[in-house]
Amino acid sequence: MSLLMIGCGKMGSALLSRWATSTDQNITIINPSLVKAPAGVKVTQTLEELSGQRFDFVVIAIKPQLIAHLLPAYQAYLKSNACVISIAAGYSVTSLVKLIGERAIVRVMPSLPAQIGRGVSGIYANAICSDAQLTIAKQLTDAVGYTHITDNEDELDRVTAVARSGPGYTFEIARCWINSAINLVFSPKAAKALVLNTLGGSIELAIESKSKVTSKNGATQAGLDTLMKSSTLESLLDSTVLSAYERAITLR
Ligand SMILES: NC(=O)c1ccc[n+]([C@@H]2O[C@H](COP(=O)([O-])OP(=O)(O)OC[C@H]3O[C@@H](n4cnc5c(N)ncnc54)[C@H](OP(=O)(O)O)[C@@H]3O)[C@@H](O)[C@H]2O)c1
Repeated sequence: MSLLMIGCGKMGSALLSRWATSTDQNITIINPSLVKAPAGVKVTQTLEELSGQRFDFVVIAIKPQLIAHLLPAYQAYLKSNACVISIAAGYSVTSLVKLIGERAIVRVMPSLPAQIGRGVSGIYANAICSDAQLTIAKQLTDAVGYTHITDNEDELDRVTAVARSGPGYTFEIARCWINSAINLVFSPKAAKALVLNTLGGSIELAIESKSKVTSKNGATQAGLDTLMKSSTLESLLDSTVLSAYERAITLR
């Protein structure tokens, strides 16, 4: 199978770093400013260099605002039954069909931890997409972490609010927690190591099992009593995720 990736910036290179070693796709990238790519991946700067080639999969990894301008020219490089995989935020199947016609389309919403194989990707396939094409799309997202298949594009926006934006929430929570450790008179370096290792270990534990983390009247319980007071944390996270979802809707 041949795969062409259009654009290879932050997200494209995060995906590619894993795909280059974990899939048997024959991968080509087109990106005018790119000269280097992982071993085994072909790089081109211009469409003319691809003359005569037709691909089974095309991954759209350019900024959404460039898509309408660039995508129509790629029609000539797609096999008739090719599948277009778009990672562009907010770019609907209907908008893509207007540019490249009715064909198999998979929208993928990955998150940045994909670059260490720990991303979360929502994927949505339109009705034309075959089971075999969806299986390959899922193999690609599985190669960079966890995959959640959605039934519709609205669910993809909800995955965005929960998971794609999640690293941003996590980094901010970690930053505040590190500040609390500094306020308890740890050095910034020690505070960062204490908090990030605690977060990493706790998340691994939560994935593996649900362990009891408190004992009655202990220090953790005292901390949690304050953290969970009047459901402030719950309502703050609810409104955080809802704001991201509402913003994702406006970008459709
Ligand atoms: N970043 C995320 O967390 C994230 C998550 C989910 C989805 N996405 C989606 O992923 C897509 C890319 O986002 P990004 O964050 O990776 O942006 P980015 O870092 O700006 O990557 C875009 C790439 O496209 C290249 N490019 C520009 N013009 C091109 C052309 N004519 N032909 C081919 N390539 C061209 C850019 O090259 P130059 O730098 O030389 O201009 C750049 O390498 C977006 O649609 C975004 O919605 C991003």
